[in-house]
Amino acid sequence: NALSVRFYGNKLDVLGNAVLHLTAVDISLDVDADRDGIVERNNPNKASWKWGPNGHGAILLVNCDCESTFRKELDSEDEEITRVSDLKDMSKMILRTRGPAVLPEGYKLSLHISRSHAESVRVFRTSGKPQEYLLFKLFQKDYPLVLNKEQLAGEVPYVGGDSQQELFVEGIRFPDKDFDGLITINLSLLEPSGQGFPETPIYTDKVMFRVAPWIMTPNTLKPVEVFVCSTSDNYDFLKAIKSLVQSSGYKLKICHEYMNRGDRLEDFPYDVLLGPDFGYVTRYPVNERVSSLDSFGNLEVSPPVTVNGKKYPLGRIIIGVAFPTTAHGRNMTKVIQDFLWAQKVQEPIALYSDWLVVGHVDEFMTFVPAPDRKGFRLLLASPDAGYKLFRSLQVKGHGRAKLFQGEYWQVAYNCIDWNRDILKKELGLDDEDIIDLPILFKVFPKKNKRAAAYYPDMVNMLVLGKNLGIPKPFGPQVQGTCVLEAEMRSLLEPLGLNCTFIDDFASYHKLQGEVHCGSNVHREPFEFQWWNLEQ
Ligand SMILES: *[C@@H]1O[C@H](CO)[C@@H](O)[C@H](O)[C@H]1NC(C)=O
Ligand SMILES: *[C@@H]1O[C@H](CO)[C@@H](O)[C@H](O)[C@H]1NC(C)=O
Ligand SMILES: *[C@@H]1O[C@H](CO)[C@@H](O)[C@H](O)[C@H]1NC(C)=O
Repeated sequence: NALSVRFYGNKLDVLGNAVLHLTAVDISLDVDADRDGIVERNNPNKASWKWGPNGHGAILLVNCDCESTFRKELDSEDEEITRVSDLKDMSKMILRTRGPAVLPEGYKLSLHISRSHAESVRVFRTSGKPQEYLLFKLFQKDYPLVLNKEQLAGEVPYVGGDSQQELFVEGIRFPDKDFDGLITINLSLLEPSGQGFPETPIYTDKVMFRVAPWIMTPNTLKPVEVFVCSTSDNYDFLKAIKSLVQSSGYKLKICHEYMNRGDRLEDFPYDVLLGPDFGYVTRYPVNERVSSLDSFGNLEVSPPVTVNGKKYPLGRIIIGVAFPTTAHGRNMTKVIQDFLWAQKVQEPIALYSDWLVVGHVDEFMTFVPAPDRKGFRLLLASPDAGYKLFRSLQVKGHGRAKLFQGEYWQVAYNCIDWNRDILKKELGLDDEDIIDLPILFKVFPKKNKRAAAYYPDMVNMLVLGKNLGIPKPFGPQVQGTCVLEAEMRSLLEPLGLNCTFIDDFASYHKLQGEVHCGSNVHREPFEFQWWNLEQ
């Protein structure tokens, strides 16, 4: 619009006329800051982020799945959008503008991002004109790239009148040691300066996102699918697992010998599982030695807990590390530990697992669902419980099983007791929340005095809802019943759990693994929304 101004002299004589032309442009860069799935107009909180049910701030997924099931590449590694379905893995931003049909000469709208944030995100825009995208190439033109790590500023066309332009934001890395997960994107209206000078921003709008963390699923969540390897010698084991999984009503996927390196799922997730909505993340060590502690059996998660009033609705990650005072211990690599800590929503607990030959926390602990108390029980391997069980059998005249000398079980007893105290404190557990399973460990003097379960390690089980697949212990028989199996049933059946004992002796136990080491479970995600966590 225009404003005309007339200048008068003392005698009301007209000295001159001036016309001031005003261009008003209403600009708002919008995100879903109230987390209801709709990108609202100009939310006053859009430029900041706060945890909790009364919090605010937009969220962003890491696009680590693969829309294509045959051309394997993480979508986040692709600088272009090649499929419409991929837009659903991105967060929408809307640029709302209202103003004249065109901006005055030389003025323009530009998105910009800092160099460090650009490492973690990409922004695409819609090209304005809807096109037929039957042809692969045409489609790419429909979503031009605006920002990435090479392009820290990008122009967005101004569309006159009252308009809305959709932009798509793609997360490309998870929070980590050097990235707190927060991303800021600016939109500025730029004014032309003199020749040779950069344009200057006369108005800047700002939005903030937090990248979704990487979240683990505990044993108390419903299973979807179980994964096991087939090897040259585990036919009977596979048969038993198949029957347990199928009678429990879940899917079973067998990873065949040609791709499992004996019994390891290294390439399997990438080659087979990666696909639409099934993502993948990996970390590589830098100048660090990888040890047995960098394995999935040494990376577990508790069910939801409350500790001294602090809620962990997604539970807490549990890893095994070296004893703090041992200089030459094996540790989980720093690159993995840093990654786990950076996710923030399942604050990790470090236990001492280096006393074991293999060194995994799943050799002495697991969680099972329970109908009462905190909704679960912690199961701990207990050499003490094992010792007492065998002693009482001996007293009752069944003492044909060989018992170990004091030192053998004392070492394991002390190490597990140390971890028991950490778990009680960090998960807010009482003694009633813990069940001690009779398991004995043998110390190997030639393996730095590290230990391993003496008979099949029953705590290393597969938890499928109420059905448990437990390593068959081959304990002493009294009146035709294995006393260890009977003891397990008497400890677990009152919780409504169903014990199935699976023979893994030759195929796993002798190679220092058991049922849990030899399987993996894909579970349903939490219903709890991570952004509602109170920090
Ligand atoms: C975004 O705008 C704010 C001011 O609103 C400014 O402090 C910040 O440096 C800008 N960031 C970038 C990357 O331009
Ligand atoms: C317990 O598990 C076995 C073996 O999978 C199954 O046959 C049986 O039906 C289960 N019992 C209950 C009560 O679920
Ligand atoms: C192993 O990791 C733990 C947990 O981060 C750390 O406290 C400890 O110092 C590390 N130990 C060694 C020997 O590096």
